[in-house]
Amino acid sequence: MSERVALALAGLGDIGLSAHLPALLRNPDVQLTALVDPVPARRDLARLRASVPAYAELAEALEDRAIDGVVLATPPWVTPHLVERVARAGRFVLAEKPVATSAREAARLMNLSATLRKRVQVGLAYRHDPALELLREWIASRRLGAPLLVRAHVYDERRDAADPAHAARIESTLAHGMPVVHEGAHVLDWCRFLLGGEPERVEDAWALRTRPGLSGPNLCGARLAYSDGTVVLAEFGWLTGALPRCELDVLGDRGHVLLDGRTFRLRLDTVDGVEDVDFEPDRVTRCFDRQVRRFVDLITGEWPVPTPDLADGLAALELSERIAWLARESMG
Ligand SMILES: NC(=O)c1ccc[n+]([C@@H]2O[C@H](COP(=O)([O-])OP(=O)(O)OC[C@H]3O[C@@H](n4cnc5c(N)ncnc54)[C@H](O)[C@@H]3O)[C@@H](O)[C@H]2O)c1
Repeated sequence: MSERVALALAGLGDIGLSAHLPALLRNPDVQLTALVDPVPARRDLARLRASVPAYAELAEALEDRAIDGVVLATPPWVTPHLVERVARAGRFVLAEKPVATSAREAARLMNLSATLRKRVQVGLAYRHDPALELLREWIASRRLGAPLLVRAHVYDERRDAADPAHAARIESTLAHGMPVVHEGAHVLDWCRFLLGGEPERVEDAWALRTRPGLSGPNLCGARLAYSDGTVVLAEFGWLTGALPRCELDVLGDRGHVLLDGRTFRLRLDTVDGVEDVDFEPDRVTRCFDRQVRRFVDLITGEWPVPTPDLADGLAALELSERIAWLARESMG
């Protein structure tokens, strides 16, 4: 490629600075041209790592006609407006998951024309992991048999008394939806990717609040039924003082796979023996690097369609919202 693509990064919070910014700086085909965040301290922190102009408002960055695209690492209650603004400004956008906190909030995205939707890639970063691709191959080739029992246990954001700012940030996120709305974006997308479609039914769902005073239930889960008899038991949890393991496992008549939720290390155990598979470098680096590569290729036309696209992001949102609704009903 003769010219680098010019990208802006909007949202200089936790994932913006820890994963998106390094991935953008690592990619030789990216020229980072602007940083955006309304909070001055976040802009100052980012500018220590990249000396490019930093703005409080995305509109200011978009005035630079050279910008080809924007990476949005913004909270999901802000993201839909920004996605629409960037796409309507004729630029490409890579938007963090979840793309909104509800289907109602996502309506402006559903109403984008097909042409504008082709500019929107959704930041379901772990979809790019080779571990998930391999697990999908094992499932599709019936290495484990079928139907399957899938158990997804996704526990994150431990409450740490020494880090009250983190707890406050996660509690404010909880006010915008149960953990399934935020973490489910990834996990329900993995299930769709691995199992090749949506569940036929959400059999049941549950939620509970482990402490009075939390802005919403911090543990929740659901049982999903698929047309071939496969069952997914999904659990999501935040903000407890200790956390269970974070993992996804898949069990069939012929074998079992354990996917470590933090590293994506795979262990396949069948009658033929045990196989351990690990990929390099670490999960975040490899997934965010691959994600940026896809985004660059979308912009240059080397890759034809956004992957994952808005339909993928909206499908995960619709299912997670349905689970959250049923879970809330179960609480009476
Ligand atoms: N892909 C992943 O693995 C992963 C991991 C963590 C978080 N996330 C997602 O990324 C998003 C951000 O999460 P986070 O943990 O970094 O949150 P965060 O609160 O740490 O960061 C969000 C940042 O966006 C900024 N912001 C708010 N409004 C803005 C606007 N209009 N323009 C520009 N910036 C704006 C905030 O000031 C803040 O600095 C969430 O949707 C979250 O679910 C994804």
